[in-house]
Amino acid sequence: MGEPVEIFEVGPRDGLQNEARRIPTREKIALIDCLSGAGFARIEVASFVSPKWVPQMADSAEVLRGIARAPGLRYAALTPNLRGLTDALEAGADEVAIFGSASEGFSKANINATIEESLARFAPVMETANAEGIRVRGYVSCVVECPYDGVVAPAQVARVAARLWEMGCYEISLGDTIGRGTPEAVDAMLSAVGEVVPGDHLAGHFHDTSGRALENIEVALARGLRVFDAAVGGLGGCPYAPGAAGNVATEAVHDRLMGLGYETGLDRDVLDRAAQMARAMRGEA
Ligand code: HMG
Ligand code: MG
Repeated sequence: MGEPVEIFEVGPRDGLQNEARRIPTREKIALIDCLSGAGFARIEVASFVSPKWVPQMADSAEVLRGIARAPGLRYAALTPNLRGLTDALEAGADEVAIFGSASEGFSKANINATIEESLARFAPVMETANAEGIRVRGYVSCVVECPYDGVVAPAQVARVAARLWEMGCYEISLGDTIGRGTPEAVDAMLSAVGEVVPGDHLAGHFHDTSGRALENIEVALARGLRVFDAAVGGLGGCPYAPGAAGNVATEAVHDRLMGLGYETGLDRDVLDRAAQMARAMRGEA
Protein backbone atom coordinates (compact mmCIF):
# COMPACT_ATOMS: atom_id res chain seq x y z
CA MET A 1 0.00 0.00 0.00
CA GLY A 2 1.46 3.37 -1.04
CA GLU A 3 1.81 6.46 1.09
CA PRO A 4 -1.52 8.30 1.32
CA VAL A 5 -1.98 11.61 -0.49
CA GLU A 6 -5.27 13.46 -0.11
CA ILE A 7 -7.11 15.05 -3.00
CA PHE A 8 -9.37 17.83 -1.71
CA GLU A 9 -12.23 18.06 -4.19
CA VAL A 10 -13.07 21.69 -4.95
CA GLY A 11 -15.07 21.25 -8.17
CA PRO A 12 -18.50 22.13 -6.78
CA ARG A 13 -17.08 25.47 -5.58
CA ASP A 14 -14.00 26.51 -7.57
CA GLY A 15 -15.25 24.63 -10.60
CA LEU A 16 -18.82 25.81 -10.75
CA GLN A 17 -18.31 29.41 -9.54
CA ASN A 18 -17.04 30.42 -12.95
CA GLU A 19 -19.69 28.81 -15.14
CA ALA A 20 -21.60 31.31 -17.24
CA ARG A 21 -24.75 29.17 -17.39
CA ARG A 22 -26.80 29.36 -14.19
CA ILE A 23 -26.55 25.79 -12.99
CA PRO A 24 -29.70 24.56 -11.23
CA THR A 25 -29.27 23.78 -7.54
CA ARG A 26 -30.44 20.20 -8.03
CA GLU A 27 -27.63 19.58 -10.56
CA LYS A 28 -25.06 20.85 -8.07
CA ILE A 29 -26.53 18.62 -5.37
CA ALA A 30 -26.49 15.61 -7.70
CA LEU A 31 -22.80 16.21 -8.48
CA ILE A 32 -21.90 16.52 -4.79
CA ASP A 33 -23.95 13.43 -3.90
CA CYS A 34 -22.06 11.48 -6.57
CA LEU A 35 -18.69 12.82 -5.30
CA SER A 36 -19.69 11.87 -1.76
CA GLY A 37 -19.43 8.22 -2.80
CA ALA A 38 -15.88 8.54 -4.14
CA GLY A 39 -14.01 8.38 -0.83
CA PHE A 40 -13.00 12.02 -0.28
CA ALA A 41 -12.38 13.26 3.26
CA ARG A 42 -13.24 16.88 2.29
CA ILE A 43 -15.24 18.47 -0.50
CA GLU A 44 -15.62 22.23 -0.97
CA VAL A 45 -19.23 22.66 -1.95
CA ALA A 46 -20.23 26.26 -1.30
CA SER A 47 -19.16 29.86 -1.10
CA PHE A 48 -20.84 32.48 1.08
CA VAL A 49 -19.77 35.54 -0.88
CA SER A 50 -21.71 38.46 -2.30
CA PRO A 51 -24.19 37.17 -4.92
CA LYS A 52 -23.46 40.34 -6.87
CA TRP A 53 -19.82 39.32 -7.14
CA VAL A 54 -20.35 35.61 -7.82
CA PRO A 55 -23.97 34.92 -8.79
CA GLN A 56 -23.30 31.24 -9.44
CA MET A 57 -22.76 30.63 -5.70
CA ALA A 58 -25.93 32.42 -4.57
CA ASP A 59 -27.67 29.11 -3.78
CA SER A 60 -24.91 27.86 -1.46
CA ALA A 61 -27.20 27.49 1.56
CA GLU A 62 -29.72 25.43 -0.45
CA VAL A 63 -26.90 23.27 -1.77
CA LEU A 64 -25.56 22.56 1.72
CA ARG A 65 -29.04 21.82 3.03
CA GLY A 66 -29.95 19.62 0.07
CA ILE A 67 -27.01 17.22 -0.09
CA ALA A 68 -27.06 13.70 1.31
CA ARG A 69 -24.17 13.82 3.75
CA ALA A 70 -21.76 10.91 3.80
CA PRO A 71 -20.66 10.09 7.34
CA GLY A 72 -17.21 11.41 8.22
CA LEU A 73 -16.94 13.56 5.09
CA ARG A 74 -16.37 17.26 5.77
CA TYR A 75 -18.29 19.70 3.57
CA ALA A 76 -16.44 23.02 3.29
CA ALA A 77 -17.38 26.55 2.28
CA LEU A 78 -15.58 29.81 1.47
CA THR A 79 -16.29 32.66 3.89
CA PRO A 80 -14.69 36.04 3.11
CA ASN A 81 -16.11 37.81 6.17
CA LEU A 82 -18.15 37.38 9.33
CA ARG A 83 -21.44 37.49 7.45
CA GLY A 84 -20.23 34.63 5.24
CA LEU A 85 -19.19 32.62 8.28
CA THR A 86 -22.54 33.10 10.03
CA ASP A 87 -24.44 32.04 6.89
CA ALA A 88 -22.14 29.06 6.29
CA LEU A 89 -22.56 27.75 9.82
CA GLU A 90 -26.31 28.23 9.71
CA ALA A 91 -26.43 26.20 6.49
CA GLY A 92 -24.37 23.41 8.06
CA ALA A 93 -20.84 23.81 6.68
CA ASP A 94 -18.43 21.55 8.57
CA GLU A 95 -15.47 23.81 7.99
CA VAL A 96 -14.74 27.09 6.25
CA ALA A 97 -11.98 28.84 4.37
CA ILE A 98 -10.77 32.41 4.27
CA PHE A 99 -9.07 33.46 1.07
CA GLY A 100 -6.34 36.02 0.66
CA SER A 101 -3.87 36.84 -2.04
CA ALA A 102 -0.11 37.21 -2.30
CA SER A 103 -0.59 40.08 -4.75
CA GLU A 104 -2.31 43.41 -4.14
CA GLY A 105 -3.88 43.56 -7.61
CA PHE A 106 -5.77 40.29 -7.22
CA SER A 107 -6.72 41.05 -3.61
CA LYS A 108 -8.42 44.26 -4.74
CA ALA A 109 -10.09 42.66 -7.75
CA ASN A 110 -11.27 39.55 -5.92
CA ILE A 111 -12.31 40.76 -2.48
CA ASN A 112 -12.18 44.55 -2.79
CA ALA A 113 -9.52 44.92 -0.11
CA THR A 114 -5.78 45.37 0.18
CA ILE A 115 -3.90 42.39 1.61
CA GLU A 116 -3.65 44.13 4.98
CA GLU A 117 -7.36 45.02 4.98
CA SER A 118 -8.28 41.45 4.09
CA LEU A 119 -6.22 40.05 6.97
CA ALA A 120 -7.97 42.46 9.34
CA ARG A 121 -11.32 41.26 7.98
CA PHE A 122 -10.31 37.62 8.51
CA ALA A 123 -9.41 38.14 12.18
CA PRO A 124 -13.01 38.18 13.50
CA VAL A 125 -13.86 35.24 11.21
CA MET A 126 -11.05 33.24 12.87
CA GLU A 127 -12.10 34.36 16.32
CA THR A 128 -15.75 33.35 15.87
CA ALA A 129 -14.84 30.08 14.14
CA ASN A 130 -12.49 29.22 17.00
CA ALA A 131 -15.19 29.97 19.55
CA GLU A 132 -17.57 27.66 17.62
CA GLY A 133 -14.93 24.93 17.25
CA ILE A 134 -14.92 25.27 13.46
CA ARG A 135 -11.74 24.59 11.49
CA VAL A 136 -10.59 27.33 9.12
CA ARG A 137 -8.48 26.71 6.04
CA GLY A 138 -6.52 29.58 4.50
CA TYR A 139 -6.01 30.16 0.79
CA VAL A 140 -3.25 32.25 -0.69
CA SER A 141 -3.94 33.11 -4.34
CA CYS A 142 -1.49 34.15 -7.02
CA VAL A 143 1.44 32.30 -5.47
CA VAL A 144 3.42 32.47 -8.70
CA GLU A 145 1.87 35.09 -10.91
CA CYS A 146 -0.97 37.61 -10.73
CA PRO A 147 -3.17 38.58 -13.69
CA TYR A 148 -2.83 42.24 -12.61
CA ASP A 149 0.62 42.57 -11.02
CA GLY A 150 2.66 39.97 -12.94
CA VAL A 151 5.28 37.77 -11.27
CA VAL A 152 4.88 37.42 -7.49
CA ALA A 153 7.97 37.10 -5.29
CA PRO A 154 8.21 33.91 -3.19
CA ALA A 155 8.95 36.04 -0.09
CA GLN A 156 5.62 37.80 -0.53
CA VAL A 157 3.77 34.45 -0.69
CA ALA A 158 5.61 33.33 2.44
CA ARG A 159 4.64 36.56 4.22
CA VAL A 160 0.90 36.10 3.57
CA ALA A 161 0.98 32.34 4.22
CA ALA A 162 2.73 32.97 7.55
CA ARG A 163 0.09 35.50 8.58
CA LEU A 164 -2.75 33.05 7.85
CA TRP A 165 -0.89 30.27 9.67
CA GLU A 166 -0.20 32.47 12.71
CA MET A 167 -3.84 33.51 12.67
CA GLY A 168 -4.79 29.86 13.26
CA CYS A 169 -5.62 28.35 9.87
CA TYR A 170 -5.12 24.59 10.15
CA GLU A 171 -3.89 24.31 6.56
CA ILE A 172 -2.68 26.79 3.95
CA SER A 173 -3.65 26.10 0.36
CA LEU A 174 -1.31 27.71 -2.15
CA GLY A 175 -3.14 28.77 -5.30
CA ASP A 176 -1.58 29.05 -8.72
CA THR A 177 -4.75 30.90 -9.61
CA ILE A 178 -3.99 31.49 -13.28
CA GLY A 179 -2.04 28.30 -13.84
CA ARG A 180 1.15 29.94 -15.06
CA GLY A 181 3.48 28.26 -12.60
CA THR A 182 6.53 26.48 -13.96
CA PRO A 183 8.03 23.70 -11.85
CA GLU A 184 11.06 25.94 -11.16
CA ALA A 185 8.91 28.85 -9.97
CA VAL A 186 6.70 26.56 -7.86
CA ASP A 187 9.76 24.98 -6.27
CA ALA A 188 11.23 28.39 -5.37
CA MET A 189 7.90 29.49 -3.91
CA LEU A 190 7.55 26.28 -1.86
CA SER A 191 11.07 26.63 -0.59
CA ALA A 192 10.22 30.10 0.78
CA VAL A 193 6.84 29.10 2.22
CA GLY A 194 8.33 25.93 3.74
CA GLU A 195 10.48 28.18 5.96
CA VAL A 196 7.38 29.57 7.69
CA VAL A 197 4.66 26.91 7.45
CA PRO A 198 5.34 23.18 7.93
CA GLY A 199 4.98 21.20 4.66
CA ASP A 200 2.43 18.84 6.20
CA HIS A 201 0.11 21.82 6.73
CA LEU A 202 0.38 23.06 3.14
CA ALA A 203 -1.80 22.13 0.19
CA GLY A 204 -1.18 22.69 -3.51
CA HIS A 205 -3.97 24.30 -5.53
CA PHE A 206 -3.04 24.27 -9.18
CA HIS A 207 -5.05 25.53 -12.09
CA ASP A 208 -4.04 23.91 -15.34
CA THR A 209 -3.96 26.80 -17.80
CA SER A 210 -0.48 25.92 -19.08
CA GLY A 211 -0.88 22.16 -18.73
CA ARG A 212 1.86 21.96 -16.09
CA ALA A 213 -0.22 21.30 -12.99
CA LEU A 214 0.76 17.64 -12.73
CA GLU A 215 4.47 18.49 -12.98
CA ASN A 216 3.94 21.12 -10.30
CA ILE A 217 2.26 18.55 -8.09
CA GLU A 218 5.34 16.34 -8.43
CA VAL A 219 7.54 19.25 -7.37
CA ALA A 220 5.27 19.84 -4.38
CA LEU A 221 5.36 16.14 -3.43
CA ALA A 222 9.14 16.37 -3.35
CA ARG A 223 8.77 19.35 -1.00
CA GLY A 224 6.64 17.25 1.36
CA LEU A 225 3.11 18.37 0.44
CA ARG A 226 0.52 15.61 0.75
CA VAL A 227 -2.73 17.46 0.00
CA PHE A 228 -3.78 18.69 -3.44
CA ASP A 229 -6.92 20.55 -4.46
CA ALA A 230 -8.51 19.44 -7.72
CA ALA A 231 -11.82 19.65 -9.54
CA VAL A 232 -13.49 16.69 -11.11
CA GLY A 233 -13.63 16.96 -14.88
CA GLY A 234 -11.17 19.89 -14.69
CA LEU A 235 -14.02 22.26 -13.96
CA GLY A 236 -13.36 25.83 -13.14
CA GLY A 237 -11.56 29.10 -13.12
CA CYS A 238 -11.95 32.26 -11.11
CA PRO A 239 -14.22 35.10 -12.24
CA TYR A 240 -11.65 37.68 -11.06
CA ALA A 241 -8.67 35.99 -12.73
CA PRO A 242 -9.05 36.59 -16.45
CA GLY A 243 -7.73 33.71 -18.51
CA ALA A 244 -7.63 31.25 -15.63
CA ALA A 245 -8.50 27.76 -16.76
CA GLY A 246 -10.02 25.07 -14.63
CA ASN A 247 -8.44 23.40 -11.67
CA VAL A 248 -6.34 20.40 -12.49
CA ALA A 249 -8.72 17.47 -12.99
CA THR A 250 -9.22 15.22 -9.98
CA GLU A 251 -9.09 12.07 -12.09
CA ALA A 252 -5.78 13.15 -13.67
CA VAL A 253 -4.27 13.87 -10.25
CA HIS A 254 -5.53 10.52 -9.00
CA ASP A 255 -3.97 8.69 -11.95
CA ARG A 256 -0.64 10.49 -11.61
CA LEU A 257 -0.49 9.86 -7.86
CA MET A 258 -1.31 6.17 -8.30
CA GLY A 259 1.31 5.96 -11.06
CA LEU A 260 3.87 7.40 -8.65
CA GLY A 261 2.96 4.75 -6.07
CA TYR A 262 0.83 6.90 -3.75
CA GLU A 263 -2.62 5.97 -2.48
CA THR A 264 -5.60 8.34 -2.77
CA GLY A 265 -8.32 6.06 -1.39
CA LEU A 266 -10.63 7.21 -4.19
CA ASP A 267 -12.91 5.09 -6.33
CA ARG A 268 -11.94 5.71 -9.98
CA ASP A 269 -15.34 4.58 -11.33
CA VAL A 270 -17.17 7.11 -9.17
CA LEU A 271 -14.70 9.81 -10.27
CA ASP A 272 -15.45 8.94 -13.89
CA ARG A 273 -19.17 9.25 -13.28
CA ALA A 274 -18.73 12.60 -11.52
CA ALA A 275 -16.41 13.87 -14.29
CA GLN A 276 -19.05 12.97 -16.85
CA MET A 277 -21.65 14.88 -14.84
CA ALA A 278 -19.30 17.87 -14.56
CA ARG A 279 -18.68 17.90 -18.30
CA ALA A 280 -22.40 17.71 -18.99
CA MET A 281 -22.99 20.64 -16.62
CA ARG A 282 -20.50 22.59 -18.67
CA GLY A 283 -22.38 21.66 -21.83
CA GLU A 284 -19.63 19.35 -23.07
CA ALA A 285 -21.48 16.09 -22.54
P1 HMG B 1 -17.53 44.70 -0.86
O1 HMG B 1 -18.38 45.28 -1.93
O2 HMG B 1 -16.23 45.36 -0.59
O3 HMG B 1 -18.26 44.51 0.53
O4 HMG B 1 -17.29 43.16 -1.21
P2 HMG B 1 -19.40 45.20 1.28
O5 HMG B 1 -19.25 44.79 2.70
O6 HMG B 1 -19.45 46.66 0.92
O7 HMG B 1 -20.72 44.48 0.68
C1 HMG B 1 -21.18 44.67 -0.62
C2 HMG B 1 -22.49 43.93 -0.81
O8 HMG B 1 -22.23 42.51 -0.64
C3 HMG B 1 -23.53 44.28 0.25
O9 HMG B 1 -24.79 44.11 -0.36
C4 HMG B 1 -23.34 43.22 1.29
O10 HMG B 1 -24.49 42.97 2.04
C5 HMG B 1 -23.01 42.01 0.45
P3 HMG B 1 -25.64 45.37 -0.92
O11 HMG B 1 -25.77 46.27 0.24
O12 HMG B 1 -24.78 45.96 -2.02
O13 HMG B 1 -26.89 44.74 -1.41
N1 HMG B 1 -22.20 41.01 1.15
C6 HMG B 1 -22.51 39.71 1.19
N2 HMG B 1 -23.53 39.00 0.70
C7 HMG B 1 -23.54 37.68 0.93
N3 HMG B 1 -22.57 37.04 1.63
C8 HMG B 1 -21.53 37.72 2.14
C9 HMG B 1 -21.48 39.11 1.93
N4 HMG B 1 -20.60 40.06 2.30
C10 HMG B 1 -21.06 41.22 1.82
N5 HMG B 1 -20.57 37.08 2.82
C11 HMG B 1 -16.77 40.89 -0.66
C12 HMG B 1 -16.45 42.36 -0.41
C13 HMG B 1 -15.67 40.05 -0.04
C14 HMG B 1 -18.11 40.54 -0.02
C15 HMG B 1 -16.85 40.68 -2.20
O14 HMG B 1 -15.69 41.21 -2.77
C16 HMG B 1 -16.97 39.25 -2.58
O15 HMG B 1 -18.00 38.63 -2.33
N6 HMG B 1 -15.91 38.65 -3.20
C17 HMG B 1 -15.90 37.26 -3.50
C18 HMG B 1 -15.11 36.98 -4.72
C19 HMG B 1 -15.02 35.49 -4.93
O16 HMG B 1 -15.82 34.75 -4.41
N7 HMG B 1 -14.04 35.06 -5.75
C20 HMG B 1 -13.87 33.69 -6.04
C21 HMG B 1 -13.35 32.89 -4.90
S1 HMG B 1 -11.58 33.05 -4.65
C22 HMG B 1 -10.87 31.92 -5.74
O17 HMG B 1 -11.55 31.37 -6.55
C23 HMG B 1 -9.41 31.59 -5.59
C24 HMG B 1 -9.19 30.22 -4.93
O18 HMG B 1 -9.77 29.18 -5.69
C25 HMG B 1 -7.69 29.94 -4.79
C26 HMG B 1 -6.92 30.16 -6.11
O19 HMG B 1 -7.28 29.58 -7.13
O20 HMG B 1 -5.95 30.90 -6.02
C27 HMG B 1 -9.78 30.17 -3.52
MG1 MG C 1 -8.88 28.30 -7.45
